[in-house]
Amino acid sequence: MVNHSDDTRLIQLPVSELKIGMFVAKLDKDWLDSRFLYQGFLIENIDHIDALVEECHNVWIDPQKAKLRLSASANKSVIYKTTTKKSSDQKQNNLISRKKTNTNIQHGLPGKKSIIPKKKVIYENSRSITEESQLSFDIFNQARSSTEEVFKRVGEGNTVDLNKSKSIVRSCMESILRNPSAMMWMSKIRNANKYTAEHSLNVCVLAIAFGRNLGFTKGQLYKIGLCGLLHDVGKMRLPTNVLDKAEKLTEKEWKQIKSHAYIGGKLLESSKTDIDVIRTAYQHHERIDGTGYPKGLASQEISLYSKMISLVDSFDAMTAKRCYSDPITPSAAIREVFKCRGKQFDTELALEFIKTIGLYPPGTIVELINGYIGLVVERNDNYRHLPKVLLLKDDKSNDIEKYTLDLTLTENNVISNEFLVKKDYPDGYKNIFLKNYHHSIKKIE
Ligand SMILES: [Fe+2]
Repeated sequence: MVNHSDDTRLIQLPVSELKIGMFVAKLDKDWLDSRFLYQGFLIENIDHIDALVEECHNVWIDPQKAKLRLSASANKSVIYKTTTKKSSDQKQNNLISRKKTNTNIQHGLPGKKSIIPKKKVIYENSRSITEESQLSFDIFNQARSSTEEVFKRVGEGNTVDLNKSKSIVRSCMESILRNPSAMMWMSKIRNANKYTAEHSLNVCVLAIAFGRNLGFTKGQLYKIGLCGLLHDVGKMRLPTNVLDKAEKLTEKEWKQIKSHAYIGGKLLESSKTDIDVIRTAYQHHERIDGTGYPKGLASQEISLYSKMISLVDSFDAMTAKRCYSDPITPSAAIREVFKCRGKQFDTELALEFIKTIGLYPPGTIVELINGYIGLVVERNDNYRHLPKVLLLKDDKSNDIEKYTLDLTLTENNVISNEFLVKKDYPDGYKNIFLKNYHHSIKKIE
């Protein structure tokens, strides 16, 4: 992987392995043909890496200069070369301008600008949960079997089918744009087998819902969906006896598990997919306090998409039954996310994610103060503790005729506070299994 050039001090690296703080001494093309003004510069931020990825396949780094800082004048705007040709000038200025915008997106340093893009798009639901649930059932099931197929083929040694993956993301995204609750409900129906494919699709769905809440453009939603769908694709190349092992892993097995991030990144590189998707496969187990793997990156070295997928990935994994652990409730998982903010997760993103999920996401089994039990069918963006609930059982756990109650009615005393949520439970509580109730949503309004 690592090659030394004629100058033995320099080390050749593929651009995918570049890190902030490295000193780039040589490109795989002539400097004069590149957009960089200086022959040799320190990588100061992820924008520099982006520019190198666009320009080169490999570069040579100088380890001896790795800790040198650029002078105050050698900031990003002068690293990029300007040109006398008017059309190229325009192109270059656009590039710099775009990169500056992205800087806000990529960096989450304390005291720096927000890493979340300013809310650009406000999405309104164009369909009710009832209308969308009729469509989402078929869309999700189709997406699930397509995802299983993509992952199975990777496990058999094939490359990632990007066309199929993109079509999965597109269909999920369209449903989530119309009304996110229907797909969020579907993502909570677990089949217990084929965990990696199922989990990946769930992460795709929740990541799009997260991006929708942040006001991402459709292009950004599409990208975050693809990042979510393919973040764990490297796991398909691991032995199933290690992946599904219920007992404590040996050190060697744990090392194998951790290698999925690198394997996934390499697989996606060979499929020539988008750099953000590749980077997310590499970085989704990195933590902002530098204790993650595979590289122990610092916060500013981790991309926005990777930070978002890290949150969604952890949340979905905590709420799923695994061979080695039982699921925890969504509210417990949300508490865990909150607890790990500022260490494992970027604080600002963690708080936004909690807003997206709400206290009780669609598909959660809840018990009300009066003892009634039901399923959350739709979130309320303004009152996150007051969702719409499909009531299934009375306070004696007897089945009742199903009906939907909007808990915001407690706000103006139309119904009593006895109808507020007391506690949530994982799937299977009191023999309530989410998969048996999808058709009930179709009848509600
Ligand atoms: Fe992973």
